Amino acid sequence: MAVLITGAAGFIGSNLVRHLLKRWPDRDLVSFDLLTYSGHLANLQEVATHRRHQFVQGDVADRGAVRTVLEDHDIDGIIHLAAESHVDRSIVDPMAFVRSNVVGTVVLLQEAARLWRDRTDVRFHHVSTDEVFGSLGDDGAFHEDHPYAPNSPYSASKAASDHFVRAWNETYGVPVVITNCTNNYGPYQFPEKLIPVVISRAIDGDPVPVYGRGANIRDWLYVEDHCDALALVYERGRPGHTYCIGGENTITNIDLVGMILDELDRARSEPIGTSRSLIRFVEDRPGHDYRYAMDIAKIRDELGWSPATDLTTGIAATVRWYLDNEAWMDIVQNEDSQSFADSWYASR
Ligand SMILES: NC(=O)c1ccc[n+]([C@@H]2O[C@H](COP(=O)([O-])OP(=O)(O)OC[C@H]3O[C@@H](n4cnc5c(N)ncnc54)[C@H](O)[C@@H]3O)[C@@H](O)[C@H]2O)c1
Repeated sequence: MAVLITGAAGFIGSNLVRHLLKRWPDRDLVSFDLLTYSGHLANLQEVATHRRHQFVQGDVADRGAVRTVLEDHDIDGIIHLAAESHVDRSIVDPMAFVRSNVVGTVVLLQEAARLWRDRTDVRFHHVSTDEVFGSLGDDGAFHEDHPYAPNSPYSASKAASDHFVRAWNETYGVPVVITNCTNNYGPYQFPEKLIPVVISRAIDGDPVPVYGRGANIRDWLYVEDHCDALALVYERGRPGHTYCIGGENTITNIDLVGMILDELDRARSEPIGTSRSLIRFVEDRPGHDYRYAMDIAKIRDELGWSPATDLTTGIAATVRWYLDNEAWMDIVQNEDSQSFADSWYASR
């Protein structure tokens, strides 16, 4: 018996595999990933030869590949992270998001239900985002009963997948849990999301793009804290339930970017403020949600979880990691991601 981690070669997935191999001394893990432009075996290098870990390359939307991996490894638990994950890309190519995020999730659910039949000692954990709830005004926070109102093709595809997961619990009795989490940051994040974009471009002395005037507000969670929350919900979350996860670190994009650039100056012993000259405001992303914030009372009260890493500590660790791992950056950055970023920002 083993737990299948889909999307394991991505940012959160690879951090989760490392976390779970340490946390669960007796469990086998099978990493399943298509290795798209954002998934890299380099992210799993540290555990490549671990005796309780295997990697299988495959597509969650490919029924044959999913059936084979579930049966061959006697999978009795799934933590499903595989997804197209970049909002800007979803605006340019939404069908890729429908295929991997919606069709892929349904294929996985169907094959899990087929294999598990009426077993209750199994678990399907769907990893989702706070973006399914849409945008907040100046007050309030998302919570488990917040109405769904996705605004981007990415968040719409994640919302659809959440609904299918819920339906497989209600209709077919699959023991599911769903987690909706705020923005993650930390080591191994592909350099197309805000924080690694800022760090990598500033390291190279390139302009740092900021949408609009940088007034949008996000809640940031250090990826290791997310992994701890995911493991807890997988272990002890109530079947059929959703748990909201957040960092309780809300900040405007422009303040965050300034903080990262100052940290980079500090780490490179340059006068604080030097790197801020790289900031360039660019035309806002269409449909850009204004504010996200999360009420984490349920996971705190039921499972005793709260974020352990404050933003200052997490950003310092993340900047240090990227400075120490420029070779990783050279491996994962490819022509596809470079040309997407160049044409996207040129159009802003
Ligand atoms: N990054 C965040 O801030 C955040 C926050 C909340 C939830 N999430 C969710 O967590 C999950 C992981 O996000 P991430 O930031 O690590 O993304 P990522 O892009 O770094 O990783 C996604 C992984 O999924 C793989 N993948 C994509 N399509 C696939 C397919 N059809 N079959 C198999 N593998 C496929 C990719 O190769 C990649 O390794 C996603 O489901 C995302 O919606 C992310």
